[in-house]
Amino acid sequence: MNLVVVSNRVARGKANEPMTGGLAAALLPVVENSGAIWVGSSGRVRDGSQEPFAEIEALGAGALAMLDLPAAHYGGYYEGFANSALWPAMHSRPDLIRATRDDYLSYREVNAFMARALLRFRKKESAFWVQDYHFLALGAELRDLGVTEPIGFFLHTPWPAHNVIGGVPHARELIEAMLAYDLIGFQTGEDCDNFLSAVQHELDLPVHGGVILSRYGRTRAAVFPIGIDVELFAQYAAKSSSHPEVSRLRRSLDGERLAIGVDRLDYSKGLTNRIRAFDQMWSDQPSLLRTASLLQIATPSRGAIEAYGNLQNEVAKLVSDVNGRHGEIDWTPIRYLNKGFGQAVLAGLYRTAQVGVVTPLQDGMNLVAKEYVAAQNAADPGVLVLSKFAGAANELDAALLVNPHDIDGMARTIATALTMPLTERRMRWEAMMAKLRRGTIQQWFANFVEELQEARLDRTEMPLPTSEQPTPWPRRPAQAGARFH
Ligand code: F6P
Repeated sequence: MNLVVVSNRVARGKANEPMTGGLAAALLPVVENSGAIWVGSSGRVRDGSQEPFAEIEALGAGALAMLDLPAAHYGGYYEGFANSALWPAMHSRPDLIRATRDDYLSYREVNAFMARALLRFRKKESAFWVQDYHFLALGAELRDLGVTEPIGFFLHTPWPAHNVIGGVPHARELIEAMLAYDLIGFQTGEDCDNFLSAVQHELDLPVHGGVILSRYGRTRAAVFPIGIDVELFAQYAAKSSSHPEVSRLRRSLDGERLAIGVDRLDYSKGLTNRIRAFDQMWSDQPSLLRTASLLQIATPSRGAIEAYGNLQNEVAKLVSDVNGRHGEIDWTPIRYLNKGFGQAVLAGLYRTAQVGVVTPLQDGMNLVAKEYVAAQNAADPGVLVLSKFAGAANELDAALLVNPHDIDGMARTIATALTMPLTERRMRWEAMMAKLRRGTIQQWFANFVEELQEARLDRTEMPLPTSEQPTPWPRRPAQAGARFH
């Protein structure tokens, strides 16, 4: 099979290059080994009257193709509809939804443009695997161009309650277009249920055991929680002291305990509540002043969007207030960095920190939580403080789970994490590592691709079920690492 993977952002990264975003970093090692072609945006634009231009380079056993997207539509697609309408909706922030008719048209134009560009990579026995909310309508565009091969879709973000997604202009059209996919994967059972409920509310279509019947045929919705390359991350961490940033951090701590947060600067990540929780912790427990600090890495992202610019100012002001309140001439409570780091350095920073704080208000999975765990030293592991609203909390239930809206509760839990005895830390860490090893990125990738091929066969070969006769799914036992709806 010739697999074509499509996402907006791609990674050509080396372990030392900074990477923004979980999707690109997570996909890199598996795409490299699979021999797939990975197609995405080059980050550059080009006049729409010109032919689609792709820069192609080798990527492991496969290739990376980076397309210049049409200049006239890029802003409306990326900053507009994808990140000012779909992103806030997916993260249950309908108050932040901003969408104009032109933004929607640009989003559809870029989806159609990508579909045309993909034809160049279509070979005998191709299959297409589309990633994320940037390309909800890409499958339908490919079908319109006559593509009959398997097309799958995976959503890396949450899928919200039907009344929230229903607030996105053109939601109905987009959900209908998604039914051109043979298989739609979600991070959690709740996301999958929400999607099926949106299909019923918006389209009034029959759904049987996760299978939807539409004019396109049948579409299967199922759960595939994304994992990480656990061994690779553990190796990076074990070798990390050779990186100057890691050794400088270690030297600077001088016995002090460290908590670490690593996020894109995004309102879904709960950064302001996290900083308030540290503020509260230092006020309530003065013994932690000078003995425990926070390193917060917040990589700027989507800066042209008003909500992101406002957030950047708010977080910077808050950090400066807290440092002003609790800091000393020779001690800074929060080190706050607005830049990205490569995976190998990050692994070393995670291993240096006694506590990882991952407290998003909503998150599809959150791979930082998994990376923090994988990077720990088995003999002296750190503690993960994790939001119960991150998809990762379903698997990493041995973390200290917190409500990211409860500042007092988070302050107490972070203090508990900073002082947790070794026996309990090891017990929790071993339980989490066992889960990570059962659901790696390699298993996620293989399970989805295998299920996609089966879903396509069923779509074309099996008779449609009647409402009295629902199709039983899955027709065979799920494999390690995959949980099916
Ligand atoms: O699923 C969301 C996602 O694609 C993540 O993988 C990544 O963290 C983020 O969005 C990337 O956003 P952007 O490409 O806009 O920086």
